[in-house]
Amino acid sequence: MPKNTLLPFNILHMDSLGQGVSKMGPKVTFVPKTLPGEEGEATVSAERKGVVFARLESVSKVSKERIKPECMHFDQCPSCHYLHTNYENELAFKRLSLEKLFQRIPHPDIELIQAPRRLGYRNRVQLHYDVKKQMIGMLDVGANRITPIPQCLIGETAIKQEMTRLYENQNWMREALAQVPQGHVEIYLRDGVVQKTWNKPYAEGGFTQVFEEMNQVLKARLKSWFGSEKSDLLDLFAGNGNLSEELNYSRRLCVDLYQKVPGEDFISQHLYAEEALSAVKKMAATNGLKDPHILLDPPRSGMKNLNDWVNAFKPKKLAYVSCDPHTLVRDIQPLENYRIEHLLLLDFFPSTFHFETVIFLQRVE
Ligand SMILES: C[S@@+](CC[C@H](N)C(=O)[O-])C[C@H]1O[C@@H](n2cnc3c(N)ncnc32)[C@H](O)[C@@H]1O
Repeated sequence: MPKNTLLPFNILHMDSLGQGVSKMGPKVTFVPKTLPGEEGEATVSAERKGVVFARLESVSKVSKERIKPECMHFDQCPSCHYLHTNYENELAFKRLSLEKLFQRIPHPDIELIQAPRRLGYRNRVQLHYDVKKQMIGMLDVGANRITPIPQCLIGETAIKQEMTRLYENQNWMREALAQVPQGHVEIYLRDGVVQKTWNKPYAEGGFTQVFEEMNQVLKARLKSWFGSEKSDLLDLFAGNGNLSEELNYSRRLCVDLYQKVPGEDFISQHLYAEEALSAVKKMAATNGLKDPHILLDPPRSGMKNLNDWVNAFKPKKLAYVSCDPHTLVRDIQPLENYRIEHLLLLDFFPSTFHFETVIFLQRVE
């Protein structure tokens, strides 16, 4: 279908990316920033694999669940997905999308842990810029378009203040020009101080969970899952050891590609490399780890060969923290002799379709 074609839509339900799904006409159409029951018109922005992606133009039948977005940039910005409805509805959409993924997997009811606030929570924000176009803001990857967001509400107060300063008198242009004319800047809070890195890989300053209060909730739940009885622990995709540092372990081994913390219990290892399992087994043996529990918190790509790791270590307890439930479900499906004891949806990323899924698995034989 040609780009910019005007299409009527009729939204049946939301998908897991926070887009309304319409089945009017010959092709399924995805329209962000709509709600179930809504009708209207959208213009085609792309067509891939037989489905159409369209940009909302107008709503003729408005859902009673629609509200005025708190953020003035919401209609244009690609980063938030649910500010056109209330938080209860956002949570219901998230729960439903997780339930769908787990429908063929025996599991206890999803426990949903909501966030203490919907905006003003991120301790790290990435902006993209183009000096020639005099633009800085959120990047819509599909459309390759930068949306300026001078009044963005997603960051913690200090992050918002720094963003305001960057936009004022186009201060960012002077800083960016000292770098390269096109790229990105990451603004993050470290020990209460705002810092910036220009054109460095994602989280170059070190990975941190973006919502500190939710991070504390997650750590408390991990603590109660692993319990007070001390055992050994393997923390995979450990970053700086954030998730395991307060657990009651005897010995631990933290593994991450980027080793930011020097020390015997941290090793740098590419966990998707062919030799990763044998290298970590060797290191675990050298460090004297015995029957370790496993905690893993991979990036979105998950851990495809988790079953090999589980067969090698046979952990009594396993905790999998995931920012992409699709890969989580793929990874746990082959596991035998494990029962899901708890399934948590932690809303680490309110206003967006993202969330953390956490499952606690117990060995049953
Ligand atoms: C979601 S973060 C989790 C970090 C940590 N658990 C925390 O709470 O701060 C994912 C981590 O995976 C690491 N990582 C990414 N790709 C990797 C790879 N191929 N091998 C090992 N670690 C990797 C990143 O450096 C990052 O620290």
